Amino acid sequence: MIKLTPPMGWNSWNTFGNNISEQLIMDTAKAMVDTGLKDAGYEYVVIDDCWSLMERDENDRLVADPAKFPHGMKYLSDYIHSLGLKFGMYSCDGTMTCAGYPSSYDHEFIDAQTFAEWGVDYLKYDNCNKPETLPGRYLYNKMGMALETCGRDIMFSACNWGADGVEHWIKETGAHLWRSTGDINDSFASVRDLLKRQVYYQPYNGQGCWNDMDMLIVGMNGNGNVANGGCNMTEYTTHFAMWCFLASPLMIGCDLRNMSDDVLALLKHKELIAINQDPAARQAYCVRSYWPGNDLKNPDNIWDGMIWVKHLEGGDIAIAFCNLCGCDIRQYLAFDEIGLDKGTGKALDITEVISGEHIGVVRDNLIMNMKTHETKIFRCKVVER
Ligand code: GAL
Repeated sequence: MIKLTPPMGWNSWNTFGNNISEQLIMDTAKAMVDTGLKDAGYEYVVIDDCWSLMERDENDRLVADPAKFPHGMKYLSDYIHSLGLKFGMYSCDGTMTCAGYPSSYDHEFIDAQTFAEWGVDYLKYDNCNKPETLPGRYLYNKMGMALETCGRDIMFSACNWGADGVEHWIKETGAHLWRSTGDINDSFASVRDLLKRQVYYQPYNGQGCWNDMDMLIVGMNGNGNVANGGCNMTEYTTHFAMWCFLASPLMIGCDLRNMSDDVLALLKHKELIAINQDPAARQAYCVRSYWPGNDLKNPDNIWDGMIWVKHLEGGDIAIAFCNLCGCDIRQYLAFDEIGLDKGTGKALDITEVISGEHIGVVRDNLIMNMKTHETKIFRCKVVER
């Protein structure tokens, strides 16, 4: 097992897209250390699409574009490792990557070998331009075997956007994480859509094979490759808090060289990260946020006022009130809805984690006025009434 809790790191795609270089990746790795993000738990530095030449070499190997990466990938990998960080790269199961670069279809074993030689620790594996007759299940299993036998521990990050019923077969491929959704963009509409889709996918989440809700947009502020208007700080907080709560991998997507203090503080929020990295790794469940019997795959069937619950290591209970509505609402949870009826003789001693406010012992229910797009995360100890 490479890692027992969701991976944390940075990925080049959301902000930089095609505009990547050796200098950028080195500066980003350095910034991950200097800003304290490494100490907060972030470790993978991942180069996404657009890193290679358009042709393989005479030995059929992928070649890093020397204009972008003049010293090659091993050099970069050595530098990243010298900072105590891990190095990630990207390929795809089709004939070309999504951006049109050569990709690993029919080259799975030789490419895994190349990545191993370059000291790669993490491979994001996309799903564009694959032969239509071949199921994703076959191609992800093939790369899974290639990575398993390449002689190096490489975290396998599957990225087929929830297609082909991936939740039913992804664990058999050896993937350590799998994208359950289409691409995020820097807007609250995107955050809201991805979050609602998790009600269906959450039961498939779990230790060793994490449900990846896509890279973070925190701190992009309307700039970069997936820009779409941006979010305010309340909205970025909801996004980050819920990705933490639902045990998604936490791959930062903003420019680490240039973050405001509030963005950095959010990305390093100790108590939120502790919920994300909780060693018990139990899936969260959604309480009363949809009509029973409706199709949970359709985000239109999930309410804007979501309530999630998660049982943590040692018996604490985490509760999320999440207001995705464009208006203020009042959210309500009766404790007997989560198994703590009066007959148990128990109550909850509650702290709101984002603000750090200790609310105190609450006996029967939690009622909150929630501002538009706001989230509150409660960490609760079970105590006597
Ligand atoms: C998409 C993928 C994105 C990014 C992009 C690169 O398919 O979901 O996260 O990797 O390809 O072209």
